[in-house]
Amino acid sequence: MPLFNVYPLYEVTPVSAKGVYVYDEKETEYLDLYGGHAVISIGHAHPKYVEAITKQVSELGFYSNAVQNPLQQEFAAKLEALSGCKDYELFLCNSGAEANENALKLASFKTNKSRVIAFKNGFHGRTSAAVAATDNPNVVAPINAQQKVTFLALNDIDGVKKELEKGDVCAVIVEFIQGVGGLDQATTAFFEEVDVLCKKNNTMFIADEVQSGYGRSGKFFAFQHYNVTPDIISIAKGMGNGFPIGGILIHPNIKAKFGMLGTTFGGNHLACAAGLAVLNTIESENLMDNVNAMSAYFLKIAEKIPKIKAIKGKGLMLGLEFDFEVSELRKTLIYDYQIFTGGAKNKKVLRILPPLTVKRNHIDQFFEALIDALDK
Ligand SMILES: Cc1ncc(COP(=O)(O)O)c(C=O)c1O
Repeated sequence: MPLFNVYPLYEVTPVSAKGVYVYDEKETEYLDLYGGHAVISIGHAHPKYVEAITKQVSELGFYSNAVQNPLQQEFAAKLEALSGCKDYELFLCNSGAEANENALKLASFKTNKSRVIAFKNGFHGRTSAAVAATDNPNVVAPINAQQKVTFLALNDIDGVKKELEKGDVCAVIVEFIQGVGGLDQATTAFFEEVDVLCKKNNTMFIADEVQSGYGRSGKFFAFQHYNVTPDIISIAKGMGNGFPIGGILIHPNIKAKFGMLGTTFGGNHLACAAGLAVLNTIESENLMDNVNAMSAYFLKIAEKIPKIKAIKGKGLMLGLEFDFEVSELRKTLIYDYQIFTGGAKNKKVLRILPPLTVKRNHIDQFFEALIDALDK
């Protein structure tokens, strides 16, 4: 049976990985500055992670959400401690799209309204409401188009005010650093005013931290760079270091009701074991300090390269903008220098999303290759 052909693929077949490196079947070593799309947080095949998953699957890999699962409580407590998000409640699911789908649904339940404000160039996933809030007509099918979503430009505070005052908006969903779009960020004043406007108009403020969360921005959550209190925070990617797990943190102003949300696989034992191993490693290896140190080191070098026209993002969620489209450069970096990087909707942006364990020597290796490739 052929595979449904939806992905343009590079000619690389990884068969193993360790730390920030990926290896193909010929044992060629690739430096992974893409992290499988911001997923690899604590490094590939981290020994503590492998041990935790192996032990868990040999004891109890899965049971449904119909029974007690103390691993979920343990995970929630650790997440609260590391994120500093006190009093929020946690609902676990399996992916970023699902996290946003549940976030939007909850916002609609809470407010009894249904229109969503989302932002130009935003990406929130492929499921029904999440994809409708994604600014890319190519991925929105007619069935999704029945959702009521209004797209505004980042920083259009007058637009947000005007729309919220109409009284029918259940949620404003935002990426504090746009991922797929190309690392754009709104101003501090904008984010903080949106927060105030949401509270004034009974609208839920959803922080999509699927990509920017888990320390990648240099703080546990990217919204923590601002003085805002989201009602719902969606998480996924870095949570499981490759194991599919997602979730939403829910402010206590939204009350749970039996049956309101649900999932078969979400929060299963194996996912919790993977998630706990990730959080424990972020803590024990001080990975957020490493993010800030490596980000500063990266930026210092990048600023000296004249062909880089702009540097976007925060922490280890970075974009290098050129005055040309980067698809050929990405190919050159993979095939000639064995380095994975990411692309964006903004075709001139090269995305850098390494494991949070990346070190100076890896960054040096990248810039040596980049400078050489740009001179070709
Ligand atoms: C900000 C953001 N939200 C949601 C998603 C969707 O996550 P998933 O692919 O796990 O459904 C992505 C994926 O790239 C993302 O970057």
